[in-house]
Amino acid sequence: MRQTMRLDVGLVTCLAAFSGVAEAFWRLPCRGRAGLARLDPLMDPGKDSYHVHAIHGPDTFSMNSDMDSLRDSSCTSCAVTQDKSAYWHPALYFMHENGDTEVVEQVGGMLAYYLLYGENVTAFPENFRMVAGDTFKRDFKWPVPDPPTSEWSGEESSQAALRQKALGFNCLNYDKAAEPSLGRHFLPNKTYLDENCIDGVRFEIMFPSCWDGKNVDSDDHKSHVAYPSTVMDGTCPEGFETRVVSLFFETIWNTYAFKDKQGTFVISNGDPTGFGYHADFIHGWESGVLEQAVKKCTNLSGRVEDCDVFDIQSEADQRKCKFEVPTLLKNEDVYSHKGGLPNDLVVEYGPAYASPISYTTPKSTQAPGVSSSASASASISVSVELPGLVAVETSVSSSSTTPTWTPTPTTSYIEGEVTQAIVYVEREVTVLVDGQGNPLATQTGGLETVSTVMSTSTSIISTMVITPTAPAKRDLHEHQHAHIHHRHGHGHGHH
Ligand SMILES: *[C@@H]1O[C@H](CO)[C@@H](O)[C@H](O)[C@H]1NC(C)=O
Ligand SMILES: *[C@@H]1O[C@H](CO)[C@@H](O)[C@H](O)[C@H]1NC(C)=O
Ligand SMILES: *[C@@H]1O[C@H](CO)[C@@H](O)[C@H](O)[C@H]1NC(C)=O
Repeated sequence: MRQTMRLDVGLVTCLAAFSGVAEAFWRLPCRGRAGLARLDPLMDPGKDSYHVHAIHGPDTFSMNSDMDSLRDSSCTSCAVTQDKSAYWHPALYFMHENGDTEVVEQVGGMLAYYLLYGENVTAFPENFRMVAGDTFKRDFKWPVPDPPTSEWSGEESSQAALRQKALGFNCLNYDKAAEPSLGRHFLPNKTYLDENCIDGVRFEIMFPSCWDGKNVDSDDHKSHVAYPSTVMDGTCPEGFETRVVSLFFETIWNTYAFKDKQGTFVISNGDPTGFGYHADFIHGWESGVLEQAVKKCTNLSGRVEDCDVFDIQSEADQRKCKFEVPTLLKNEDVYSHKGGLPNDLVVEYGPAYASPISYTTPKSTQAPGVSSSASASASISVSVELPGLVAVETSVSSSSTTPTWTPTPTTSYIEGEVTQAIVYVEREVTVLVDGQGNPLATQTGGLETVSTVMSTSTSIISTMVITPTAPAKRDLHEHQHAHIHHRHGHGHGHH
C-alpha cells in the first residue's frame, strides 16, 4: 500500500453518484481489529462459528455477545469511545497452489459509514442487531453491470436482488479514477487483481435501512429489516417504513502482496466468488449517544472529529483493544492453515447454493483416520506370550496402538451424506503369572467406550471435495486400545 492517506476517501467520492445530492453521514474508523476468530454471536451463538471473521469493536466480544455485554467493555477498536457496537465480516484468504492458505493483510482496519439517508432517519433501537448478505450465495442472476436504478423493476428490484447488489468489490488503484461503490458485485479473479488493483481490493457491504419498527432481531437476523428501492436510498417497502441509519462497511485487503504467487483468493466461508460475502452488526452505542448523533452529526465532511457528540480516541488506542479468544479456539491458527481454509471448509464455486456447510475432511478431533487393521475386528485377542511380563495388579505402563493410516488427499466427488463414526474402546487385560514369572492365565475386563467421534459431511455432486483415501465405506470403525496392566521384570523380583 503506497498511500494510506487515501484510505478514507472511498465512499465520499461516490455519494453523488448514488443519491444525486450530498446527504449527511459520518465515517467511523475502526483502525484496530479486535480479533480474528471463528466467532459469530448472531449466527452461531454459544459455539464456534464455521468460518473466520475479522471483528471490530469492543474487548468483550464473544460467542455470546449482546448489547449489554458489549456495553460492559472497557475499550473499543473503533474511533468513537461511546460506541461499543460489534462489527464483523468474513476474512479474506490466499490459497496457494498446494492448498495451504494464509490470511490476506487487512489495511487500516475497517470503516463503518453511518449514512443519514432518507427522511426521518432514526437511531437503531436498543438491542438491535442484523446481518447483511448470504454466506451460501454463489451466483448473481441479474444484469451486469447494474442498469441505472431508474430501470430496476420487477424481480430486479426484489429484496433478493437488492441484497446482492448491496455487495461491492472495488478494485483500488489510487493513480486512477475511483470505481463507484457497489459497482461490481463479485470478487475479481487473481489475474485481474494482479494487473489492475495495485492498492488492493475494497470489500463493501451495505446493510438494510428499512425497519419494521417493532422487532429488534429476527430468526434469520434479516427479516425485521429490508432494503430501500435502490439499496442505499429510495423508498422503503410496505411494512418496513421506519428508516434507520444506513450502515455501510468498507474493508481493504492487500491482495497485491500476492501478485508473484500462484493461487486464488477465497473468502473464509469457502467462497471464491464474492457472492457469499456478508457482514454482521450488534448495536452497542452507549444509551442516547446514537440518537444525539443522528440529530447533530450532519457536517457534510463526514469526519467524526467534526461532531462534538463524539469522544475520539487515538489510532494507537484503537489498535490496543483486543478481545480474548475463548479457550475452545485458543490453539487454532487462523492466520495460516495447511491444506485448506481454517476449519477445513470446502471451497465452492457455485453457481449452486453452497448449503449446508461442507468440510474437506471428516471432522474428527481425535485423529484424521484410523488404522484399517485395527478396525478389522471387534474383539481383542491379546497374546500372552509375553516373556518380559511378571505379575499383576499394579499398572505401570500401558500400550496403545496409534493409527497407521496416513491421509493422502485425493480429489473425488461425493454425493449425499457421509457419516463416519470413530469409536475408541478400552479393555483391561491382567496376566497372571506363577512364582517364576511364567504366565498362567489372563483375565480380561469388559470393553469400555472411551471416546466416540461422529462426523457428517454433506456435499452436492457438482462440488469438488478433497477426501482422504480412508476406508470411507465403513460406517463404524473400531479402534481398540489394549491397555495391558503389567509389570516388566526378568523372572526374579520386582523393580
Ligand atoms: C417524516 O415525518 C414527518 C413529520 O412527522 C411526516 O409528515 C412525513 O410524512 C415523514 N416522512 C416519511 C417518509 O415518513
Ligand atoms: C479473470 O477475469 C477476467 C476479467 O473478468 C477474465 O477476462 C479472465 O478470463 C479471467 N481469468 C481466469 C483465469 O478466469
Ligand atoms: C464542518 O466541519 C468543518 C471542518 O471539517 C468546519 O470547518 C465547518 O465549520 C463545519 N460545518 C458545520 C456546519 O459545522
